[in-house]
Amino acid sequence: MQRLLVTGGCGFIGSNFIRHCLSTRDNVTIINVDKLTYAGNLENLADLEGDARLLFRRGDICDRAFVQQVLADQPVDAVLNFAAESHVDRSILDSGPFVQTNIVGTQVLLDACREAGIGRYVQVSTDEVYGSLGADGLFTEQTPLAPNSPYSASKASADLLVRSYVHTFGFPAVITRCSNNYGPYQFPEKLIPLFISNALNDRPLPVYGKGENVRDWIHVLDHCRGILAAVEHGQTGEVYNFGGKCELKNIDLTRTLLRLLGKPESLIRYVTDRPGHDLRYAIDCSKAERELGWSPQVDFETGLRETIDWYRANSEWVERIQSGEYTSYYERQYGERLGDS
Ligand code: NAD
Ligand code: TYD
Repeated sequence: MQRLLVTGGCGFIGSNFIRHCLSTRDNVTIINVDKLTYAGNLENLADLEGDARLLFRRGDICDRAFVQQVLADQPVDAVLNFAAESHVDRSILDSGPFVQTNIVGTQVLLDACREAGIGRYVQVSTDEVYGSLGADGLFTEQTPLAPNSPYSASKASADLLVRSYVHTFGFPAVITRCSNNYGPYQFPEKLIPLFISNALNDRPLPVYGKGENVRDWIHVLDHCRGILAAVEHGQTGEVYNFGGKCELKNIDLTRTLLRLLGKPESLIRYVTDRPGHDLRYAIDCSKAERELGWSPQVDFETGLRETIDWYRANSEWVERIQSGEYTSYYERQYGERLGDS
């Protein structure tokens, strides 16, 4: 029996990971620790309600006593840290919560895991820690860290803390760094779900700058498969890059989305660029292919069509988020208002 503790399991990638893990592995139990910030939504796991293999503990990874208690109550074999403030634009408006959760939260988890003698720790990180590329080249695991946004700086800081715990204490951690994810349950503030939701409602699509910035897109399930491979086969102290081998300029992605949605290009609005906007991300994921036996499986256009279908079929999920009504699910479920504790 493999017992996992997942932090941030009510977010986009964490909830997809939990579903993927429980549907592909026998004898796994998962404890999901989530603070339920604006980005955490219990509805993302509603289909697993009543599944005895999944336990939810609401709490903050920065709360040392809480994290220690969870690990004392439910001993686990591995900890996977997905919990984070994850949106670059929000980090530009206020970096405080990013420093708190992404750096302090990671430190608290690392200490609690060391004390509890956890055998495997996975830090879910991002390619954004490497900074920005010019027209050529790819990020490898050897690329120096050069984060440019408060978000990526906080993730790079966490990665360095993890590295230092491996080096100093022999702590059994691995770090994964993935490119831009898309797929079901992504909070509609990120590019793809925001643009799908706006286009479905004939609202403008705000493209930053000239839309020339390049991102490498990976389906969230491919990322989840990579993280699972890292838990099962990763070597202590190693970093593994994951990418979708799918580089696209934002404007080309926007046009593809509109074509698949059957909406006109007149919905495109060029708006003021993001301050410090990284030009290009592109990933060399050959180490993960070689050493973890992993490779991205989902063809981009197929994945995008399925994602569009998911957002069409789940328009109420988006509406409940946009209206703030989704937090009442917690109240119904737990008889307590979010923000009360
Ligand atoms: P998300 O914003 O959708 O979800 C984050 C989750 O963490 C939410 O459920 C939130 O409630 C929870 N959380 C936040 N602060 C917490 C705290 N202090 N204590 C406990 N829970 C807390 O994020 P996501 O897109 O699912 O990203 C998950 C992880 O993957 C993050 O670490 C992110 O940096 C990393 N990542 C994301 C991408 C991407 O494209 N989205 C790419 C690479 C890496
Ligand atoms: P985003 O989904 O925020 O991911 P990240 O900044 O972590 O890469 O943005 C993806 C790209 O889309 C990025 O180059 C910024 C751009 N973008 C827009 O042009 N308009 C938008 O409204 C958003 C949210 C992003």
